Amino acid sequence: MIPAAKTAPKKLLLRALEGELTEKTPFWLMRQAGRYLPEYRALREKAGSFLNLCYTPDMACEVTLQPLRRFGMDAAILFSDILVVPQALGQDLSFVEGEGPKLGALNLETLSPAGLEERLGPVYEALKLVRRGIPPDKAVIGFAGAPFTLACYMVCGQGDGKFDKAVAAAKAQDVEFTELIALLTDAVAAHLSAQIRAGAEAVQLFDSWAGLLQGQDFERWVIEPAAKIAAFLRKAHPQAPLIGFPRGAGKLYPLYADKTGVHALGVDQDTTLDWVAGNVRRSVCLQGNLAPEALLAGGARLEKEANSILDAMAGRPFVFNLGHGVIKETPPEHVAALAKIILVHRQ
Ligand code: CP3
Repeated sequence: MIPAAKTAPKKLLLRALEGELTEKTPFWLMRQAGRYLPEYRALREKAGSFLNLCYTPDMACEVTLQPLRRFGMDAAILFSDILVVPQALGQDLSFVEGEGPKLGALNLETLSPAGLEERLGPVYEALKLVRRGIPPDKAVIGFAGAPFTLACYMVCGQGDGKFDKAVAAAKAQDVEFTELIALLTDAVAAHLSAQIRAGAEAVQLFDSWAGLLQGQDFERWVIEPAAKIAAFLRKAHPQAPLIGFPRGAGKLYPLYADKTGVHALGVDQDTTLDWVAGNVRRSVCLQGNLAPEALLAGGARLEKEANSILDAMAGRPFVFNLGHGVIKETPPEHVAALAKIILVHRQ
């Protein structure tokens, strides 16, 4: 007789994202792979350019797994960038050392979703390798930039934190801006779906600049596209939870959670987790929200702030994370110290 196949226990991170109150707090960190790690810097140098690293599957896979080897996070986030989607749609993209991304002139007529998945093939190849190489109890997270944040970079050509031209177009309900968001909503849904098919077990939608909009503008350009993407993914991939991260949403976090139907909500460090917890359905998992500056500082500040988050969220489905990405000057030992704080708190 053939013995029945043993089904592996469901991964900690996925149980929490699905709304289960887990016995331990899962954790991962935004930008957990990157320049604060010497092994990243070594491979980055070998790759020559950041984009070459993103598009070379075995190197992207290696960089994705580096932080888990050191710190034992419960998940690996694919090493890639949100701006590969505008590039795959046909807009020129380069990264200038020390200056961040630079995009070519935006011309809607030349952008096309045809062939997007083909162009992003190396990204999906990297994911397949990560899924094969990751320890069996750890989860693989895919991601994309949300339409509004992508549009900010596409319209302005680079990041300045204000994105005046994109915000003005959003507020004016500009026709071209409307078309751009529609195009991006479909492209992002397709990109996330392809990542799930390639092995991502959960996906995060980064709306890093959502906080630039308020009121009806926030509803139209942040909530509506996220709701469409969430509905599409729930139907196509009911097993893969979606984390929405509308950074800077402030008082609009509960509305975002309610109206988009995301499984989990990423909370930035400017928002009080307790307040979000009190105003968002308990079945929505919360994720966040340690200030990256506390991780940079380390020591007593790190211990105090991390423990206060862990204590506050002990009674609800929760994933420990930062409120934004790891700062590149962060000493790796501080990340090791944080991993230990979380581990001890679990016991
Ligand atoms: O989180 C991870 O570890 C996965 C990898 C990841 C990167 N970028 C790698 C990266 C993820 C999830 C992103 C998302 C991303 N990219 C966002 C959303 C999150 C956020 O930070 O708000 C945004 C806005 C971008 C666009 C982008 N990419 C910018 C503005 C920059 C320059 C900033 C900087 O620190 O230089 C990048 C480059 C980038 N993306 C780097 C990394 C590791 C640094 C590039 C290098 O190694 O030279």
